[in-house]
Amino acid sequence: MAVGCLAGAAPETGRLPADVAAAARRCRRPGWTGGREQVYRCQLDGRRPGRLSVYGLGPPEELDAARLAEWLRRVAADAGAEGQRELLVTLPPHPVTRGESALRVLSQLALLGYRFDRHRSRPLEGSLRVVRVVPPPGEEASYRLALRSAAAVAEGTALARDLANSPPNLATPEWMAAQASELAGAHDLEIEVLGPEEMERRGMGGLLAVGGGSVHPPRLVRLSLGDGPRSVALVGKGVTFDTGGISIKPASKMSDMKYDKAGACTVLGVVRAAAELRLPLNLSAYLPLAENMLDGASYRPADIVRCYDGTTVEVLNTDAEGRMILADTIAWAAEERPGALLEFSTLTGATVVALGHHGAALYSPDEALAEGLLAAGAASGERLWRMPLWPEFRREMEGLHADLRNVASRWGGANTAAAFLSHFAGGVERWAHLDIAGTAYVGEDQQGSREAVRGATGFGVALTVAWLLEESRRP
Ligand code: BES
Ligand code: MN
Ligand code: ZN
Repeated sequence: MAVGCLAGAAPETGRLPADVAAAARRCRRPGWTGGREQVYRCQLDGRRPGRLSVYGLGPPEELDAARLAEWLRRVAADAGAEGQRELLVTLPPHPVTRGESALRVLSQLALLGYRFDRHRSRPLEGSLRVVRVVPPPGEEASYRLALRSAAAVAEGTALARDLANSPPNLATPEWMAAQASELAGAHDLEIEVLGPEEMERRGMGGLLAVGGGSVHPPRLVRLSLGDGPRSVALVGKGVTFDTGGISIKPASKMSDMKYDKAGACTVLGVVRAAAELRLPLNLSAYLPLAENMLDGASYRPADIVRCYDGTTVEVLNTDAEGRMILADTIAWAAEERPGALLEFSTLTGATVVALGHHGAALYSPDEALAEGLLAAGAASGERLWRMPLWPEFRREMEGLHADLRNVASRWGGANTAAAFLSHFAGGVERWAHLDIAGTAYVGEDQQGSREAVRGATGFGVALTVAWLLEESRRP
């Protein structure tokens, strides 16, 4: 049992039984301040087996959504270390736990027991099975109301994590397409899967070029679901493994490039949540799936490739493959004139240099859309930071012997990549690119804290569902 206690306040015992509440109040001994580093633990006696821990949450004015989430992960790590299967958490009254935050808090609680152990001979020990929550006083109704959406967000996020964590020898483009078909079957969604011949016929040269070096041919999946007055297109980069191709990456951390399909995984997680919640929106999801490998048939630096919309691209670096497959896909999605187009990709290392791992880069020419996404990011605890689409970056992407080139100089690499993509959104002004390279996974080089999620995070599912809920309510 975990009880939160803000500095200067009594521990939050809500409607816990009197003897448990009394045990929690015993934390307030000399020296107890409720600081973030403080924990008071005791064994509950008599009829209530189990342990009670009171955690300091620090001064209320310093508590924010990120700190609350960090606290929840810490509580779960402690409970796991103690071998507990069940956990009860009480939340103190505070702006970050109020009713309007219930969706965020509940979906985070639901994910505390997440593990990816399907490829282990024996399941991991110490994983939580049941998490109960005592909402802050007076917020019970809001928390109850948010339960259904929170379950959908958590399940969508877990699906995104499971897929992104799957190893590249299993999770090939065909396998990813099969996962999408399975999802479509379970929720009665429309699905279309294009293979290389169909791509050839449609002139999707970017996806064909990137996928050409692999024994696992590329796929382009389109799912559609729901109906309503508004249409939204979601696009997710699905590079099942990114070696860099002929412009090969260094060996260290190349294994992290199994997460280069995270954008597609996030989109599938959103589709699952949207289907479960029956959102009154016309949703289309597009997943370009390819493996970027080295082979005699690989595309090479200096190749000129023609994309779906007729734009020609000079390939200067085969490691800038994400934008090549997204060029075809965004152009296809834009052709259908969606009311909004959101695209997710682990697109550039430059984004990680700029923002680290604590937020994703948001690019959009549409002020209102950007505002709405930033707000959804803040509400869901998945932070976004807006980056520029200045025309100079687009000029840097002009080719020497073709319309565009796929890389410019080192500088502003995330911005030139976004500028490249903007070319393919065509007439769709309500368009956004989210570079999730720094947030999609906790990689080998992130020492982080022991309570951090390791592996894929499913970043983007929560914020997108929050945004779609708003979009479906827009007058
Ligand atoms: N998948 C990578 C981007 C990436 C890097 C994601 C690190 C996550 C962590 C992408 O395909 C890539 O290789 N980008 C290049 C672009 C460059 C060649 C212009 C990069 O960022 O170095
Ligand atoms: Mn690459
Ligand atoms: Zn990549």
